[in-house]
Order: sequence, then C-alpha cells, then structure tokens
Amino acid sequence: MERNLVSNPSIYEHLLGKLIGTYERGPDPSLGDFQISVDAYTDPVRFERERALLRTLPTAVAHVSQLAAPGSCLAHDALGVPVLVVRGRDGVLRAMLNVCRHRGTRLVEKAGFSKVKKGFHCVYHGWTYDLEGKLTHVPRRELFPTLDECAHDLTALPVTERFGLVWVVGTPGERFDFDSFLDPLEPDLAPLGLESHVVFRRGTTTARTNWKIVMEAFLDGYHVRHLHKKTVGPYFEGHQSYSEPAGPHVRAIVGRGGFREAIESDAVGDIRDIATPTYVFFPSTIFVAQPGFVSRATAYPTGLDEIYWEHDLIIPEEPEDEKAKAHWELNYELIQNRVFKGEDLWVCEQIQRGLKSGANERFTYGVEEAPIEWWHAELERRIEEMA
Ligand code: FES
Ligand SMILES: [Fe+2]
Repeated sequence: MERNLVSNPSIYEHLLGKLIGTYERGPDPSLGDFQISVDAYTDPVRFERERALLRTLPTAVAHVSQLAAPGSCLAHDALGVPVLVVRGRDGVLRAMLNVCRHRGTRLVEKAGFSKVKKGFHCVYHGWTYDLEGKLTHVPRRELFPTLDECAHDLTALPVTERFGLVWVVGTPGERFDFDSFLDPLEPDLAPLGLESHVVFRRGTTTARTNWKIVMEAFLDGYHVRHLHKKTVGPYFEGHQSYSEPAGPHVRAIVGRGGFREAIESDAVGDIRDIATPTYVFFPSTIFVAQPGFVSRATAYPTGLDEIYWEHDLIIPEEPEDEKAKAHWELNYELIQNRVFKGEDLWVCEQIQRGLKSGANERFTYGVEEAPIEWWHAELERRIEEMA
C-alpha cells in the first residue's frame, strides 16, 4: 500500500496499524477497567509532594520562535518558582530564577514575554545582571568588602530546546538529562519540524480544578464524541482510539470521521487528515497534532483546586494575508476558547465541584481510559522514589 505519512513513516505506520486493529477488533483485550480513589485529588499533603516532583521534571513553557532573538525574555511564574528564560547575546538560551541575589527582589516584575536590552536591573538597591545572568554591577561596591561576585550570579535552572519547544526544570543547581527523558517521543515529534514553526497566539486562563483531573481529560479518548459533540466531536464520528506508553509519556491516536473509508481506498495522505495523534509528556505537557497545526498546552498546578492553563497554537508560518489570519483566528477560537476552555476545562470544574460530595469514593474508568492508569502509576512511582 502506497502512503504518504508525514516524513517518518515508521511511527505513523505503526500507529495506523494499531488503530486499524482497534477498528477491526476493538480495544486491546489485555487492558481492563479500573478505579482511582477520589482522595488522589483532594489530599493536600499528596498535592505538595506532586508539586515538589513537578519541579524536578521538564515542562514546556514556550515555543522557540517566542524566544528567538537575543534579549527575548519570558518571565514565568507557574512552575512554583519565579523563572526567567532569556536568549543571551551569544545566542544561548538560559533559564534562571527571577530573584535578585542581594536581598531577593523580583527582577522582571510582569509575567510574560518582553524584550530586555542590556540585562536586569534590580529596583531596590540597583544590583545589575547581564543577559547571561552574570552580576555586573554593585552600587557602592566598597560596602561589601567580602562579596564574591561570581557566587552571586542569577541562579541557573536546567533548560533545553527540543522539538521546537523550550523545556525548563524548576530546580536550581541540578543538571538534567533531557535527552533520555524526551527521546521516547523523538520519532513522533521530530518529523513535524516544529523548529521552523511560529506561534499564532498564546491563550492562558485559570480553572478551578485539580491538575490531575485536567491531565485525565487529555489521556481519555472516550469523551470526545460526547463532551465535544457541538464542536470537534463530529470530526471524530464513529471514532476509535489507540494508546501506548512511550517511556514515562503517553502516545495516543484517535481516528477521525472517514478513517475506515480512507484506509479501505488507500487514500491516506497526511495521517493528521484521518486521525489525530495526541501526546502527554509526563507530567503536564499536552501536545495535539491537529490537521495543519499543533497545540502545545500545559496544566500547571497552582493550588490543590486550581490550575494555570497555557496553550500555544503553533502554525507552520506567519499568516501571509488577512485570509490566512482569519483562518487561524477561527482555529484559535474553536480550539482554545470553545474546546479547551469551554468544554475540557469547564467539565473539569464541574467534576471539582462534586469531588468532596461523597457521591464517589472512587472513580471508575473503562478500557479506553487506560492511559490515565499508566499516568497515575508513573506519578505514584516517582513520588515514592522521591520520598
Ligand atoms: S534586593 Fe536587589 S539590589 Fe537589593
Ligand atoms: Fe477533550
């Protein structure tokens, strides 16, 4: 069979084969239904352990195009520590804590993207750092006879650029082996060539819900035709889904309407026209390969019952004209506002409201929700390891 599947046929051929199998034979018989205790979402002690774990793992906070030029800076607060990600004059991307080394003042006050000219100047006593985080000026230097300047550079955090995304770990001092962590999804993400893409728009919001309830919504193919019936549900008419673990992450694919017919007639072009690959990078980065664009979203836990949501709609190139812009506006409105915010996050808030009602001691999950069990097991294992 002749097929033209993006540019790395092996992983997409594999997913396609598995998806055809679920259409023909139903879900993998080795998977079972299962339950999870509601305490998992309501226990504050457990939540603090989760947040501590999250600070030791990579999270995608931006697309490389948003931090491309020297001096491009992102002040980001949702990792549990205040972070600056900045492109140095030398072209190297660095992450550091947004905290002055004199007496701790926040250096860049406003969260979000900005352009920094020379470096960072502390408003309190005027200590100054360059774009690389080096302490370059201490007013009235003679007041600090024993000061070791080199030991007072901004505190560095591990950061890397991979798959066109910027990944940061919120724990100072440590080195992080990004490669072995992200490698399992290299075959899927590399062929998409996201390095050369741009962000059409970033959407952010908060939602009153536990972060794990949100992650579950993106590990579940079962809800698509129901919750999303007025938006994207019809695109997935008669859908089946297939999921598998990829290292600590999850790789999944959901068939779109016409999947069977396209397979039977051999009319398969880009896999994204007939199915939607969806990934969860453990723990909290969501990645959806939509037809013609991708969504990278992250659910940052900011409280036991609150998340900060960040979604970059990533497109192949800057819109050339008004028509192209209007096309992406429509996609943004559909995916960010109507689907993610209006349906997925909305339903998570509805769950949160009844969490402590006593209706459920445990939640019940079916076979198609199996990735939720894998993800919880990974979380559990890593929290135990940390203890
Ligand atoms: S706290 Fe920054 S210079 Fe004093
Ligand atoms: Fe959904």
